[in-house]
Amino acid sequence: MKIRIDKASCVGNARCAAVSAELFPLNEDGYIAVEEIDVPEGMEALARRGARACPERIIVVVEE
Ligand code: F3S
Repeated sequence: MKIRIDKASCVGNARCAAVSAELFPLNEDGYIAVEEIDVPEGMEALARRGARACPERIIVVVEE
């Protein structure tokens, strides 16, 4: 499973990082720091929850 993030559209809500700071690291300005993440085994539910948590709806889960 992968996560894709439309990084340029991030407004710094930080809800994703509140779900998992490991999956959704923020940069020093509080915006999402990554564009694509390979979700480690066992973290799929957190990945989905983090994606749903973003009010901007810019986090997409890609099932493989
Ligand atoms: Fe950005 Fe959405 Fe996270 S706006 S910081 S990707 S909750």
